[in-house]
Amino acid sequence: MIPQLFIHDLLSRVDIVDAIDRHVPLKKAGANFIACCPFHSEKTPSFTVSQTKQFYHCFGCGAHGNAINFLIDYGGLSFVEAVSDLAANVGLQVPQESDKTSKEVNSNDVPQSYINEHSTHSSEISSQDLIAVMQTATQFYREKLKVSEKAIAYLKERGLSGKIAARFAIGYAPAGWQNLGEVFPDYKSESIRKLLVKAGLVITNDDSNQYDRFRDRIMFPILNQRGQIVGFGGRVLEQEEPKYLNSPETALFEKGRELYNLFSSRHAIREANCVVVVEGYMDVIMLSQHGIDYAVATLGTATTSLHIQKLLRQTDNIIFCFDGDNAGKKAAWRALENSLALISDGKYLSFLFLPEGDDPDSYIRNYGKESFEKKLKQSIPLTEFLFAEICSELNLQSLEGRAKLVNDVKPLLHQVKASALSLILLNRLVELSGINRNELEELLQIRPPGRKIRKLENLARRQLTTPYRRLIRALIYNPNYSVKLDRNLLVECSVSDEEANALKELIGFIDTHPHLIKKTKLTTSLLTFLQDSPYRSLLEKIESEILEWGDSIDLEVEFLGALEKLQQIHRNRRMTELRSKSLNKLTEEEKRELQRLAML
Ligand code: UTP
Ligand code: MN
Repeated sequence: MIPQLFIHDLLSRVDIVDAIDRHVPLKKAGANFIACCPFHSEKTPSFTVSQTKQFYHCFGCGAHGNAINFLIDYGGLSFVEAVSDLAANVGLQVPQESDKTSKEVNSNDVPQSYINEHSTHSSEISSQDLIAVMQTATQFYREKLKVSEKAIAYLKERGLSGKIAARFAIGYAPAGWQNLGEVFPDYKSESIRKLLVKAGLVITNDDSNQYDRFRDRIMFPILNQRGQIVGFGGRVLEQEEPKYLNSPETALFEKGRELYNLFSSRHAIREANCVVVVEGYMDVIMLSQHGIDYAVATLGTATTSLHIQKLLRQTDNIIFCFDGDNAGKKAAWRALENSLALISDGKYLSFLFLPEGDDPDSYIRNYGKESFEKKLKQSIPLTEFLFAEICSELNLQSLEGRAKLVNDVKPLLHQVKASALSLILLNRLVELSGINRNELEELLQIRPPGRKIRKLENLARRQLTTPYRRLIRALIYNPNYSVKLDRNLLVECSVSDEEANALKELIGFIDTHPHLIKKTKLTTSLLTFLQDSPYRSLLEKIESEILEWGDSIDLEVEFLGALEKLQQIHRNRRMTELRSKSLNKLTEEEKRELQRLAML
């Protein structure tokens, strides 16, 4: 755990413009800096960096964050790595709870040897140490492949060229229990053993005997988004179980985050303007050998939302390519479920199911690149797959079937935030269910049942910016304004209103972190501390709106104006409430209140 105050200090010393400019050259444009967005492909710059507010926002793909987020999302660093990177740049030492005897070295000085000689705690093993180990192991496995007739024969038999094996740094872990001893001289010393265990390369059993995890397997190194080797997949040569053994989750390697080949395929993905997601290592490799370099694979797990987020930053177009069998359909459905909330308009997800018995590896070997690319073009759009799957188990001739259809689609539709996509889904649902649009909307609770006041409020929400939103903007710009906000105004706001709830959350944070707020000289985005908030993406969107605020903004007027609007809404709501009771049921006090409200 890194203390929040440290993060705050760090971010107020770092300049996000420097931090980003090192990776993506920025140009000054008005009050901000701009560039073509590194998270999606575009020709005109919509990636905007605010130096005064220290955050970036892309008006094209919605990428948003501070300097730490940038290093995580662009560089593929973990949170701790990103913080250490930035800290090293400004000469700060990252405080760590376990690190009581604070050392006077900064991370630039970390020796490139495998382990710091003085380290005895495993917690002192740095990612650099682990990465160096993985690098050495990869080299070792590659050397061993060169001298293993058996392994070479296996790869040849599968049709792999030597060139492609080299490009993917494929290796071979020999049979035997302690081969890594050959390249790690102090293999059995406590510190090296710990390091190798942490890297997931060595296993120790109870009597602390140690042995190599990967034995007699073809080794596929897995790179993170910075091109560092963070894990391995190891395949048996014969028919054994498990067919593939993957690195365990380590400090470097998290299966749900990484995608095989994402690092090397970046350019090809941009060029092709799409990415193909397949299931296996060999699929990726064989596609690449046949000239399709824009494929990635999940690592023996379902496609996670993190995977999809990462991919959507690279391209607007994801094609999931799965086997045509039941397992493939299931995998596709999981991917669909994890995508719905992440799709924005302009993103296009589709599914390709290969004929039974084929996977991308065998398909491209049998039918070639052209045929595979033709198949890609015929992939089924997400909406079509969604309805096909749901309807396949229903009888739409029956009323029950149609009711079930609406019921099944409802939770999916609710996740969708993209307006065009939800319209398409809704229209299709109208067609299939035979229920008219208005009734369907009520049924799905897309629109609350028609009380006049609600309708008016909805209208207002669409046409004007709500006071909640304006207050959030103002508070993000300067949290000190929160003292002017009467908390009672937030008590009764409806639970379904996202903006109102986001405002509550923001105020809640401000109220419970006075020390941070006082220190915030408007140089650190408050959102830094709200990364886990359920309203994060909404808050990010709202924060992006202040990019257009120049120095001319009169925050006082803006804040008080929004506050007045909020009070008005409250008065109206209360009046409606009072008026809905019949007059003789009102208490004297309520009558006076109504009178007073009506006067205002
Ligand atoms: P498949 O069983 O479809 O294998 O697993 P494959 O990719 O066609 O492998 P080859 O062609 O027989 O070599 C697909 C992916 O699922 C993961 C691996 O990532 C594999 O590439 N997997 C599979 C495992 O992690 N462990 C296993 O035991 C099997
Ligand atoms: Mn296969």
